[in-house]
Amino acid sequence: MQMDNELLALFPLTAAAPGGQIHIAGQRLADLAGEWGTPLYVYDAATVRRQIETLQQALAASYPGETEITYAAKAYFSLGFARKLAEMGTGVDVVSLGEMNVARKAGFTPGSIHLHGNNKSAAELAAALDATVHAIVVDSLDELAFLEDLATRAGRKARIWLRITPGVTADTHTYRQTGHAATKFGLPIHNGQAAEAIRRARRSAWLTLTGLHTHIGSQISQTAPYAEAIHRMYALARQVDFCPIEFSPGGGWFVRYTPDDPIIPISDWTDTIGAAVQQECRQSGWPLPKVIVEPGRWVAAQAGVALYRVGACKPAGDGATWVAVDGGLADNLRPALYQAKYAAVLAERADEPATENVHIVGKYCESGDKLIEGVYLPPAKRGDLLAIPVAGAYQLSMASNYNLGGRPAALWLEKERVEMLQPREEVIETRWWVGD
Ligand SMILES: Cc1ncc(COP(=O)(O)O)c(C=O)c1O
Repeated sequence: MQMDNELLALFPLTAAAPGGQIHIAGQRLADLAGEWGTPLYVYDAATVRRQIETLQQALAASYPGETEITYAAKAYFSLGFARKLAEMGTGVDVVSLGEMNVARKAGFTPGSIHLHGNNKSAAELAAALDATVHAIVVDSLDELAFLEDLATRAGRKARIWLRITPGVTADTHTYRQTGHAATKFGLPIHNGQAAEAIRRARRSAWLTLTGLHTHIGSQISQTAPYAEAIHRMYALARQVDFCPIEFSPGGGWFVRYTPDDPIIPISDWTDTIGAAVQQECRQSGWPLPKVIVEPGRWVAAQAGVALYRVGACKPAGDGATWVAVDGGLADNLRPALYQAKYAAVLAERADEPATENVHIVGKYCESGDKLIEGVYLPPAKRGDLLAIPVAGAYQLSMASNYNLGGRPAALWLEKERVEMLQPREEVIETRWWVGD
């Protein structure tokens, strides 16, 4: 038998399963787990590269103006990963001093950094001013005044964009919607705050407004909300006669997590953005702006695979089997937070028939610590190695030390070469506390 092609397609580009043993970049996952321990995250270099190149080509085909890819660090960031992306020539979207420091240390130039966030601290804004990052993306009228004051006192001009809330609701989990009228993010158009921010920013001697930005959510598979957001933002820009020289429709494009998810080419997204921006510029009589997209998930998700060791297995009340693994909610919050769905494969028996209905649960003290409810596997037993594909985004970056466990290691897999992206944290010790 061979591994199901539908499942294999969810794994990184270089995945293969000779004899039922899953390999990535020529490395047998069982060997990596044996050497580095579990839970373990691995990232396939070829997949990250392919995603960036595919998006670059799609943007070039969809839009005649200048374009840039800015990676959203929140999807997954570590010094090692940041270095790889800096080498690949992307920009980076950061939301904290920590991400900004890692980006700078990894070699991102200040001109390739955008600082986002709905409540940036004085220290974060001061660091961005000091570094002269490409843009501070101002999220509110309050922040506009705060930043202007900081810039004035520092005697440094701030280059800014405004994060606009266009009032569109994207087709995704409510916790991932960020463009509707009730979101905490951005300056709403509907109540006049966005127009007011543009006017105030243009009057300021210390703020230089170059662009408009929006981010309407994450894991979005329909293009219409993007077109509508762009349309509303340009209507706003015309209303206040502001021609943006930079324009960012954010990130948020969809990736497949299970074989049931649809296959949607990235060109659907870039074509929609490219056509909408061109149409609005024609209508306004304005030159084309530089378009900056900010994908996180689309760059990192498919490159990553999470590896867990199976421990206790027992019958569940509904006729299925509980299969407990040595990670869970502390390294992957997504099922608990968004009811996210995943596929799973036994990494050393990928060619065996999946005959047993199981619930894959973690080891943490929460009933909601379920990685997958109801998935078919070959009969699993203690010691088996479980691989969950599409694990590269919003997993490790959201990982915690819940139950005082250590966060997993992450590896970067090039052909015939393994590099450490982040080391495994040892079980938390008393160093966390002061005194005895
Ligand atoms: C401002 C901003 N840009 C880009 C992204 C990246 O989104 P995604 O990873 O879905 O592409 C996010 C994530 O929520 C974001 O908040």
